[in-house]
Amino acid sequence: MAVKKERRSFLGAALGGFTALGGVAALGAMKRSWDPLPSVKAAGFTTIDLSGAQENVLNVEKWRGKPIFVLKKSKDMKANDRDVIIGEDRFHVSIGLCTHLGCIPAYVADVHEFHCACHGGQFDASGEVLKSPPPSPLVVPPFKVDGTKLVLGEEGEEYKKMKTAGLVA
Ligand code: FES
Repeated sequence: MAVKKERRSFLGAALGGFTALGGVAALGAMKRSWDPLPSVKAAGFTTIDLSGAQENVLNVEKWRGKPIFVLKKSKDMKANDRDVIIGEDRFHVSIGLCTHLGCIPAYVADVHEFHCACHGGQFDASGEVLKSPPPSPLVVPPFKVDGTKLVLGEEGEEYKKMKTAGLVA
């Protein structure tokens, strides 16, 4: 009888241990997906490593006191001339302030849109206006592409091309 009881408590402890390990692993995975992308701030520049970015997950960085939206586009999202192309991937990068009166729009991942709660303005995943009152698309901050990294605050070739074409503001 005592042997049976001991065996049962051993099995219970082993099962509990496995369950706890599974829980810790799941929490670790969840935390990794919530963590912001690694970024380095120095002398007015913010460098963001995009190699770990996940499709359709909005990352909000900070650059010179402003929120910066960084969104890795999924294949079903429309390409746009304002996309930042890094390797095979397309990113939407913008200053995360509504061009109406400066509220911070929320990203609604299910519909791939930014919705501004202040006056109902809406933007698509490229920052183009879907619904007024915003008068213009979300603004693209000065950036430079450096391998898999994005340097905010520096005007690289890609940014200069967009600027010349009148696409950044
Ligand atoms: Fe966004 Fe007015 S501030 S709609």
